[in-house]
Amino acid sequence: MENVTIIEHPLVQHKISMLRDKRTGTNEFRTLIEEIATLMGYEALRDLPLEEVEVETPIETCMTPVIAGKKLAVVPILRAGLGMVNGILALVPTAKVGHIGLYRDEKTHQPHEYFCKLPDPIEQRTIVVTDPMLATGGSAVAAIDFIKQHGGKHIKFMCVIAAPEGLERLRKAHPDVQIYVGHLDRQLNEKAYICPGLGDAGDRIFGTK
Ligand code: PRP
Ligand code: URA
Repeated sequence: MENVTIIEHPLVQHKISMLRDKRTGTNEFRTLIEEIATLMGYEALRDLPLEEVEVETPIETCMTPVIAGKKLAVVPILRAGLGMVNGILALVPTAKVGHIGLYRDEKTHQPHEYFCKLPDPIEQRTIVVTDPMLATGGSAVAAIDFIKQHGGKHIKFMCVIAAPEGLERLRKAHPDVQIYVGHLDRQLNEKAYICPGLGDAGDRIFGTK
């Protein structure tokens, strides 16, 4: 699967195991999600374009690389994707942040959009869409459809846990999008929850039920 990268780093795997534990409380859960986003972001951003600029060191003037152009936009899918934003901003503090509000209908599992605000000029930015959970893939596909309709071109998708069903759907719908996954789980259950998963990511991040 050439547009999919599974982040097999032991630090990421260890932290995902801690997330799965139902005894992990809201505070620790939030911290872990952020830390995982930073570790995954380091890998996902390794192809950010660079340009040479002139810098004067204490010794001499040299040409040296910095991140080029209009740089980065992080676009969390609300709510749970918000939990990953600060983890990426820790790496690129100047990144702009857009928001896409989607919720999944409990019965039909179809995504419904309720909010969208993207930073300009979106077409010139590398866009990292974040959501901890890729389950049926409906939310991720809808969010990326939407970003493309608004002109977004260079899109990456980052999730902590994916189900095979959702990963396949996203790959087929958006073969140009590079997908970064912390762990590929076994399957979805009859309520379209990921097994073994970690439960409802939004509820665990925000302490709701
Ligand atoms: C969860 C999760 C994803 C979506 C994944 O959000 O954060 O956005 O479900 O499911 P899918 O791949 O089947 O679309 P939810 O709709 O529960 O909203 P929330 O983040 O506000 O809790
Ligand atoms: N959304 C979640 O938060 N968890 C799942 O397992 C599936 C969708």
